[in-house]
Amino acid sequence: MTSSNDIRATFLDYFARDGHQVVESSPLVPRNDPTLLFTNSGMVQFKNVFTGQERRPYSRATSSQKCLRAGGKHNDLDNVGYTARHHTFFEMLGNFSFGDYFKEQAILHAWTLLTRDFALPKEKLLVTVYSEDEDAAALWRKVAGLSDDRIIRIPTSDNFWRMGDTGPCGPCSEIFFDHGPSIPGGPPGSPDEDGDRFIEIWNLVFMQFEEGPPGIRAPLPRPSIDTGMGLERFAAILQGKHDNYDIDTFRALILASAEVTGQDPDGPFKVSHRVVADHLRSGAFLMADGVMPSNEGRGYVLRRILRRAMRHAHLMGVQQPLLFRLVPALVRQMGGAFPELLRAQSLIEETLRLEETRFRTLLDRGLGLLAEETARLGEGQSLPGDVAFRLYDTFGFPLDLTQDALRAEGRGVDTAGFETAMTEQRRRARAAWAGSGEAATETLWFDLREKVGSTEFLGYSTEKAEGEILALVVDGQVVDRAAAGQEVAVLLNQTPFYAESGGQVGDTGLISAGDACRIVVRDTQKKLGDLFVHLGTVSHGEASTSLAVLAEVDHDRRSSIRAHHSATHLLHEALRRRLGNHVAQKGSLNAPDRLRFDVSQPTPMSPADLAWVESEVNDRIRQNGEVTTRLMTPEAAVEVGATALFGEKYGDEVRVVGMGHDPLATEKHGVYSLELCGGTHVARTGDIGLFKILGESAVSAGVRRVEAVTGTAALAVIEAAERNLREAAIALKSTPAEVPARVAALLEERRKLERDMAELRKKLATGGAAAEVEEVGGLRLALRELGETPARDLKGIADAILKAGTADVVALVSTAEGKASIVVAVGEAARGGADAVALVRAASAAVGGKGGGGRPEMAQAGGPEADKAAEALAAVRRAIGA
Ligand code: ALA
Repeated sequence: MTSSNDIRATFLDYFARDGHQVVESSPLVPRNDPTLLFTNSGMVQFKNVFTGQERRPYSRATSSQKCLRAGGKHNDLDNVGYTARHHTFFEMLGNFSFGDYFKEQAILHAWTLLTRDFALPKEKLLVTVYSEDEDAAALWRKVAGLSDDRIIRIPTSDNFWRMGDTGPCGPCSEIFFDHGPSIPGGPPGSPDEDGDRFIEIWNLVFMQFEEGPPGIRAPLPRPSIDTGMGLERFAAILQGKHDNYDIDTFRALILASAEVTGQDPDGPFKVSHRVVADHLRSGAFLMADGVMPSNEGRGYVLRRILRRAMRHAHLMGVQQPLLFRLVPALVRQMGGAFPELLRAQSLIEETLRLEETRFRTLLDRGLGLLAEETARLGEGQSLPGDVAFRLYDTFGFPLDLTQDALRAEGRGVDTAGFETAMTEQRRRARAAWAGSGEAATETLWFDLREKVGSTEFLGYSTEKAEGEILALVVDGQVVDRAAAGQEVAVLLNQTPFYAESGGQVGDTGLISAGDACRIVVRDTQKKLGDLFVHLGTVSHGEASTSLAVLAEVDHDRRSSIRAHHSATHLLHEALRRRLGNHVAQKGSLNAPDRLRFDVSQPTPMSPADLAWVESEVNDRIRQNGEVTTRLMTPEAAVEVGATALFGEKYGDEVRVVGMGHDPLATEKHGVYSLELCGGTHVARTGDIGLFKILGESAVSAGVRRVEAVTGTAALAVIEAAERNLREAAIALKSTPAEVPARVAALLEERRKLERDMAELRKKLATGGAAAEVEEVGGLRLALRELGETPARDLKGIADAILKAGTADVVALVSTAEGKASIVVAVGEAARGGADAVALVRAASAAVGGKGGGGRPEMAQAGGPEADKAAEALAAVRRAIGA
């Protein structure tokens, strides 16, 4: 038997030998198309190559593309399990020519590969062509020698392939396999074409146009080729099966499901096994590509898929989580071709187990309610919409799960009633919100959120993605267009821009649509929890709603923000280890050029604490540990030892970011740092580069702040410090290493000089005293202006003059530091006739001072007017004379 893995390899090898570049499958979430929910065919990743917007170094390619058709234009969810060929997830093998070869060679390749390499009998093949495509019909005759009755012309849009409502498109030609008359069914185009006899295996699209807004179709720069062959249905043919679910890869999953459930793989629960196998594949591949279950957008599609599968597990009587136990079987089948599955295996298993555990009770109770309600209905009567809504709202039953559950009884759901109940709930939410007293400006965002829905954030895995402008706000008003120069707030359906939250600043960057529009985004803010508002200026062209745009985050800035945010986690853990478990986060800022982290800590951190913490963080950086992210319930997160912010409100699910390893941290399963966090982080701690603490300070009672920098910002700090040291060394005529000793020696020298100088001043002031004493009122008066002599030296000098015995009263004024300082000393002999305090007050008044103080024998004062030193001394003279 030819295995699915062999078929994939043979296909890719064939085209590789013919100069086709083998291109890896792109993720299920299209990075380059805002209009598509999921990658739905092989050409999606080449869309811009077909239109000429993007150039690649090759003009032929081949791939095996992961595709998902659940939600959006191509949606097969409802048929899965009930038909032989519908899947939500499948692989599409394809070959592509970007303006290189066209119809003839595409037909030749397909025919050669099918009939030569895969050895399909020619007589079992037939083709369809678009009714107007004479060329294609002629080529099939020429290349394959097919007779006219095996070239069927299809006049409908069935033979005109479109990626979506817009994008590249063109007429196509499909190759069918005939299982022979024993199987019921007619050829394509006939009334019973839906039978299983004729199976389409390969679609060749002659890409010639690009579909724009309705009614506008432009030719592509060069005619191109896009082909698609569903691997599963082709494998069924090569493996001699009529049913895709009987091929090797599916059979392995179904057998695994049969083993775990104890239910016969081909017995009464055949449909359930199939649904489980299909949904396991789509669920696992979505998670491997970064989609996590949620209540919005793609995450909700994933949750719907998983919940459907869980209902089928429940039908099979399984009480415990089932899907996660089947992951190893899936990885065995497909992990070789898709290593991302292997890498994400534990994440997938954990997430599945979590989803299954949480939904189990709700599922039981919801199914109970459903049974009660249907018992009241007449045969074939639809389930009322309000019941379906109650199941949705209270028990988490997606509408399609309820529909699937009722299918076996031949019952539908009153979907209009369901929608009415949904609208009514929104109205109530709005009324409750309006009554909560929020500011009027916020009403704008509330209305917009209701209108356009929440924003899907793609920024954990990409910094660049296409999106569609859903709304524009200028000066608080919703507008359809914004011209160059206008300040604008932009809402997109999806964005890689991180909106400020959890201390991490909002992203900046560019939103553009070629030359038609450029918006420079200077900040991104979050409104109402999940509405991302890009704030910027239209710098070129015009922005308008519905415009498809490319949103690009400023990469360097975001990288620096990531490094600072991840360093904050390491810092948090290091602080806790050094200072104790009381250390808890009180606030943080993660910017491109710095981080600020506030923690509960009663006393200042010592330089030794900071040095230890800095070195610990740098050690962890150098260990280059892995950074992982898991989604969990808040309770589960706390159970695995993650640090949560006390008093913070978390949603149903939280992201838990783990960093580095520490075998001793058993309470955290050997992870060094484990925190609840919605921010963006580096892939490995080594990406932080370097960590440098700038300082520590007080914020409020019991809260200390650490400020630090990482990466290039840290390097800049170190470089500046080095530069200063070098300059200091040059000034000191020494080397940087000798600077501390040099500075200590200089300070010592300076202290000695000051002492010497004081001595000298004293000598100078006392020497020659006799000559400068004047007699006033019978007392010998020594009055001196001492210029720059420090004020603190004045008392010593006054004492020395008195001791020399040449004067009875001494008054000294210094004008150091730009102000007048006065000391008056009265010798013993003069005590009865003069009071130092009264004299110094008189002097101080002359220099604009107020008062003065001391004892009758020695007093001091001062005043701001240094230029009036002589007047101060004159005032002393007058006071004694009076
Ligand atoms: N893109 C084409 C398809 O999906 C080949 O059928």
